[in-house]
Amino acid sequence: MTWMIKDAFLHELLGRMSVEEKAGQLNLLTGAMDATGMKHSGDLDAKIRAGLCGAVLNVYTPAATRALQELALASPLGIPLIFGYDVIHGHRTIYPIPLGLSCSWNLNLLGRCARMAASESAADGLHWVYSPMVDISQDPRWGRVAEGAGEDPWLGSEIAAAMVRGYQGNDLADPASVLACVKHFALYGAPMGGRDYHSVDMSRRAMEETYFPPYRAAISAGARTIMTAFNDIDGIPASANRWLLTELLRGQWGFQGWIVTDYTAVTEMKNHGTAATDADAARQSLEAGVDMDMVSEAFLSELPALVESGAVREEQLDAAVLRVLETKWDLGLFRDPLARCTHQPAMQPCAENRQLAREAARESIVLLKNEGEVLPLSKHATIALIGPLADSRRDMLGCWIAAGDESLAASPLDGFRGVATVVHTRGCGISEADEDLLAEAVRAAKQADVVVLVLGESWQMSGEAASRTDIRLPECQRELAKHILQTGKPCVLVTMSGRPLELTWEDSQFPAILQAWALGTEGGHSLAEVVFGDAAPVGKLTMGFPRSVGQLPMTYREKPTGRPFNAAEKYSSKYLDAPNDALYPFGHGLTYGKFRHGAVSIDSPEMQPGGTVTVSAEITNLSAYPATETLQLYLRDLVAPVSRPVKELRGYQRVTLAAGETQVVSFQITDANLSFPGRDFQPVVEPGDFEAMVGPNSRDLRAVRFARLS
Ligand code: GLC
Repeated sequence: MTWMIKDAFLHELLGRMSVEEKAGQLNLLTGAMDATGMKHSGDLDAKIRAGLCGAVLNVYTPAATRALQELALASPLGIPLIFGYDVIHGHRTIYPIPLGLSCSWNLNLLGRCARMAASESAADGLHWVYSPMVDISQDPRWGRVAEGAGEDPWLGSEIAAAMVRGYQGNDLADPASVLACVKHFALYGAPMGGRDYHSVDMSRRAMEETYFPPYRAAISAGARTIMTAFNDIDGIPASANRWLLTELLRGQWGFQGWIVTDYTAVTEMKNHGTAATDADAARQSLEAGVDMDMVSEAFLSELPALVESGAVREEQLDAAVLRVLETKWDLGLFRDPLARCTHQPAMQPCAENRQLAREAARESIVLLKNEGEVLPLSKHATIALIGPLADSRRDMLGCWIAAGDESLAASPLDGFRGVATVVHTRGCGISEADEDLLAEAVRAAKQADVVVLVLGESWQMSGEAASRTDIRLPECQRELAKHILQTGKPCVLVTMSGRPLELTWEDSQFPAILQAWALGTEGGHSLAEVVFGDAAPVGKLTMGFPRSVGQLPMTYREKPTGRPFNAAEKYSSKYLDAPNDALYPFGHGLTYGKFRHGAVSIDSPEMQPGGTVTVSAEITNLSAYPATETLQLYLRDLVAPVSRPVKELRGYQRVTLAAGETQVVSFQITDANLSFPGRDFQPVVEPGDFEAMVGPNSRDLRAVRFARLS
């Protein structure tokens, strides 16, 4: 019954809309509370008053959204606006950047964080978040790896779905729910040279095996909107790619929502050289399947004339408009358009949200190295806290911080001061040396019992338009590290970054290295909890750290090649100047404590079609205190119609063991875990021999074989 009322309402409204008002509903304009692109929308109020704007981004708070919503309600048809914003890792309470939080491998935590972000943004007048970013990437030169969930499509798919469910909840009309927007569709994470906005040239097999799965998982989880990528696919910009948006996304994947372009992507087709005019670009984009034009205004300025001339069918325009109007109905906007802008939300993170952010930060920290169990540190030691990031609250928040307030964030210094005796100095700038600061840092180190060096990237060095060809620490920071090491004081390195860094030199120098990403509002406190042992690190890398930028792009899921690496064989796949593998591989992360990984067994060497085999691995906690490990299951299809990766993550379990405890951790393997895109790119399960591998990361594995029968 309800759908009949909705359908009748929407079609009656559509019937009263002029072609220009229809184009207006597809016109997404930007406010000025944030700047996330080159073009600004000069006459925002006038366009809204005239009913020529369907949605607005970069405007939030109840007061600001109410002012614009009232203009829309006073327009000729009074169609309410949708308000969207880049809530990427929290809105007012900022949790770790997505690449950091993905290292928790904790889907429940990820979902709760997304729900918190939804609740805070909905309370701030918003209906729509441009998240989750699910672009797989194998290249940390690309600054936007900070916004994603790393290199693995299987884990990335799990995380994408968890976040969509967190944002949208069970009902879009729920006052704490917001529209998710899966981005950037598609393949944006594989630009040539790791250079943002560069071309993507990719086989269909790589699309199906690696880059498409997380988008599909997000759509299967019910994502209502998807954002097109800036790049071309097979030479056609994503925003004009009918194969991608209509034949594949809607036709094969059954996407029922609507498609918004990325910022001015419609008119950027002229830069791509695939459109000569805005009119040409608008036509191509609508015909490809795009519904809403972000900020370029080509839809508004060109579609009415294109419809009038017959170059574009009005039915195509109507279909797009109905998809947008239906979402407004589902959000409850026609029933109560001011629902989200009539109260004053908490402008500061509440205690509960801070606690969640602290939990998320704790679980995002990855212990890369801890020789001699240097960590955790004693709270009774005098600590020299040194480095250009040691007292930075802004850099602790990272890129894309929405309404986050750096003054409310905890830097490492804020966190450490509450726990131990700390002498602090910067030692250098992010990228600029300073002789005085360096001398001060050496003096501080000599006075202390132990040094904690906090080095890394500023928040501007990752995220959008922030690719780097050299992903080492800036030179002045490496110089600072050398001087501190020369003091002979015990020294722990904490790296903060939006990407995996090249830490090969640091790995040779420091006994302990903690990867702290950008941990968000509670970051300094969580870092202190881990450094001083109030919490043990549990994070596991979702993206490998290369030994050299020269290895990139790289992935643990590599194909075997016809000449697999063999140290004894000249003619095998290798470099002359570096090993093939990562310095710290996908899935790597230590904790406080030691484990013994025992035998891996399987309950049957043969798996029936549609059946199950169970792989079990024994693990013992050798420490004198409880310890937590995330055991991972990888599979390999030894012979198939196409060459298959040497291993692929297909399961994991986090276990906590008491001192001395031994557990047997079991993984069920079914046909679903063996499925892969066949030669026709359709999912297929083939009989044959498989290898199941279990271990604490993608490198230290024990294997067992089984045969899937036909
Ligand atoms: C930016 C980004 C995209 C973001 C959008 C709106 O250019 O590419 O991720 O959601 O514009 O700010």
